Amino acid sequence: MNLVECINTRRSIRKFTEDPVSHETIEKIVELAKMAPSWKNTQITRYTIVESKELKDKIAAEATIPFNANSINSAAAVVAVSVVKSRCGFERDGSYSTVKKDSWQMFDAGAAVQTFCLAAHEYGIGSVIMGIFDYDKVAEMVDMPDTQEMVALIALGYPDETPEAPKRKTVEELLSYK
Ligand SMILES: Cc1cc2nc3c(=O)[nH]c(=O)nc-3n(C[C@H](O)[C@H](O)[C@H](O)COP(=O)(O)O)c2cc1C
Repeated sequence: MNLVECINTRRSIRKFTEDPVSHETIEKIVELAKMAPSWKNTQITRYTIVESKELKDKIAAEATIPFNANSINSAAAVVAVSVVKSRCGFERDGSYSTVKKDSWQMFDAGAAVQTFCLAAHEYGIGSVIMGIFDYDKVAEMVDMPDTQEMVALIALGYPDETPEAPKRKTVEELLSYK
């Protein structure tokens, strides 16, 4: 598929088949996600793939809302996305580079995660980004090092639904020239 088709047809998928996603496919996805741009090429985004049914069920049951738990339950894996702290948006002496402070971390994670989800779609894998969950609980459940901060979950698997695209704003609403 070409890039225009990939961007247009990627949807958030919340219902998955029982087929597992191979490590080969996951590695191909991360191979593309790593090409996302990042602050001074700091490449701070990390992906922890939770495949263990026991741990996946625990995250669904104890660390998120029922709506997201449903997506996680049918997913082949849930990805805990984290960032390495204190690099992106920072100078070498530890001071902030801009008034945006460390929010560039989230910016870089967003660019990386969108690349991850588009790459997944290219390989036939559905995904949904999830922001509503207990970050500290998930960090503890996946043994996240203190040097990293949890930023998002992604449910991953072969799609078992083909949702319509939610309505988008028009170009005129989004765009202005001066
Ligand atoms: C930062 C972020 C957080 C999101 N959190 C959730 C979430 O917690 N649960 C969920 O089901 N979808 C979540 N979504 C998915 C959005 O609802 C979805 O992208 C949007 O409705 C547009 O649909 P589409 O992805 O199919 O184009 C999130 C998306 C983003 C970018």
